Amino acid sequence: MSDIPLFNSSLAPYMAAIEERLVRVARSGRYILGPEVEAFEREFAAYLGARHCVGVANGTDALTIALRALGVRPGDEVVMPSFTFYATAEAALAAGAKPVFCDIDPDTFCVTAETVRAALTPRTKAIVPVHLFGNVAPVEELRELGPPVVEDAAQAAGAQLNGTRAGALGDVATFSFYPAKNLPCLGDGGAITTDDDDLAERARLLRFHGSKDKRTFTDVGYNSRLDEMQAAVLRALLPELDGWNERRRAAAAGYERLGLGEYVRLPREVGGATHVYHLYVVRSDGLALGRGYYRVPVHRQPAIGSDADLPGTEEAARTNHALPMGTDLTEAQLREVVAACASGST
Ligand SMILES: Cc1ncc(COP(=O)(O)O)c(C=O)c1O
Repeated sequence: MSDIPLFNSSLAPYMAAIEERLVRVARSGRYILGPEVEAFEREFAAYLGARHCVGVANGTDALTIALRALGVRPGDEVVMPSFTFYATAEAALAAGAKPVFCDIDPDTFCVTAETVRAALTPRTKAIVPVHLFGNVAPVEELRELGPPVVEDAAQAAGAQLNGTRAGALGDVATFSFYPAKNLPCLGDGGAITTDDDDLAERARLLRFHGSKDKRTFTDVGYNSRLDEMQAAVLRALLPELDGWNERRRAAAAGYERLGLGEYVRLPREVGGATHVYHLYVVRSDGLALGRGYYRVPVHRQPAIGSDADLPGTEEAARTNHALPMGTDLTEAQLREVVAACASGST
């Protein structure tokens, strides 16, 4: 299985359409916050079932800006998992907040209502569940805990929980369109989605230096815009997202059908979730398989150094292995991966 790419998706079939759109933008003379970004924001919000989408430069800025637009201020606590990409915590720190790490259920790799509840304090200003690897954290239950919920949906474009898309479940949500993501662009890109008119307005202000009109500056913000080129790419690819995710789900079902569960512990969908398998991550104690993610979880990173006791996180960090996943996996490749797992090595 050594020659099967971990990220098994190719944009080759879409390149002609992408190139045509890029040429059109290049010749238009509109490069920043123009018609492509506006149209993508409308189309992505409609796809998710959210009222607003605000395009920004990347998924990290999306989280920082979403937290600030929500009213998170220096000294506030933000509860989040430690088993995530470092950017989730970095974004909260950039907003001046203190990340407070909660545990996950290692079967789903997501937070639960119980693990979040254990981390709440009177200073908790927001909860940031991460829809890790394309699964969907139980946002409906998390919303009952009180503080506003900011979905980190960077890895879960197109996923659903009980029929509602990730990105339309919480008070606000954030996405990354980094090239390996389920909905990719050809560089960096990100978005904030929400039903809250005022929050969307504040996010728009913050992405452009804290100004509505380029003359009066009412806040200290960021230069963080999705650009016209990337928006044009995203508009070309958004219609493909559901079909791609179906293929990812079919590959996951194929692994299961071919008996992978006899050799490793398979990922479990959160109850009610439609997982979109950004990554297909199994757990195994003794085998040398695939690639491990977040082996040193965020709370133990040198820049953070928290002594939180998170047994589910430690287990996931120690035992996880990502196997090949994507839109283009063949039955023969699935069989090869299962056979490699059966023989205990890559
Ligand atoms: C869970 C999670 N949150 C946030 C980010 C940050 O997104 P970006 O790389 O676009 O800044 C990523 C990116 O990998 C991610 O996986």
